[in-house]
Amino acid sequence: MEITIRQEQLSDHAIVFQLIAAAFRDEMYSDKREQFLVARLRNTEDFIPDLSLVAEVDGRIVAYILLTAIKIISTNEEIPSLALAPVAVLPVFQGKGLGAALIEKAHGIARDLGYQSVIVLGHEKYYPKFGYQPLHYFNLSLPFEAPPENCMAIELVPGALKGLDGKVVYPAAFFE
Ligand SMILES: CC(C)(COP(=O)(O)OP(=O)(O)OC[C@H]1O[C@@H](n2cnc3c(N)ncnc32)[C@H](O)[C@@H]1OP(=O)(O)O)[C@@H](O)C(=O)NCCC(=O)NCCS
Repeated sequence: MEITIRQEQLSDHAIVFQLIAAAFRDEMYSDKREQFLVARLRNTEDFIPDLSLVAEVDGRIVAYILLTAIKIISTNEEIPSLALAPVAVLPVFQGKGLGAALIEKAHGIARDLGYQSVIVLGHEKYYPKFGYQPLHYFNLSLPFEAPPENCMAIELVPGALKGLDGKVVYPAAFFE
């Protein structure tokens, strides 16, 4: 199976919308509105086109990932970071390495762009495969209630989150 990963284009939006809805359809924890979140985030200044990626198999878009700019407010500093939300793979293509390929690719691009960390709210058994660790390990908290095991972060640059004591701040579009 040949996987091509590329930046999402305007002409992909409708397909990506359907893809995200299909991917989350049977997820118990999902509010089934992740496709609307992506539509909103694309219209914010925190949207980073380079980090809105599709994965194609035989020319067909089957998976998508978005990393959006967020901030970490620590005791006396403000640090740019990224939120991974969502990563979505069409059900029949799940378990074939597409999610992993998108996450690794997005991490590499993010690092090249100068970002040093990524925050995620997600499956506690999935993200640790890529190096994500619980948020409390970094002395960071989210601005909303969530099970601690699902709140995770990764340092794209070793030590990037060391010595912080702060809060993750999301763009308002995350909560609309
Ligand atoms: C979760 C998701 C993105 C994973 O993508 P994927 O392409 O199916 O997963 P991959 O093939 O890259 O899996 C890599 C590894 O993670 C495991 N894995 C996949 N989904 C997992 C999950 N939900 N929980 C724990 N482990 C999972 C795979 O078994 C595989 O393990 P291995 O490396 O030991 O073989 C995808 O299944 C999906 O879109 N699910 C529905 C939407 C969703 O839940 N998105 C994530 C929001 S947190």
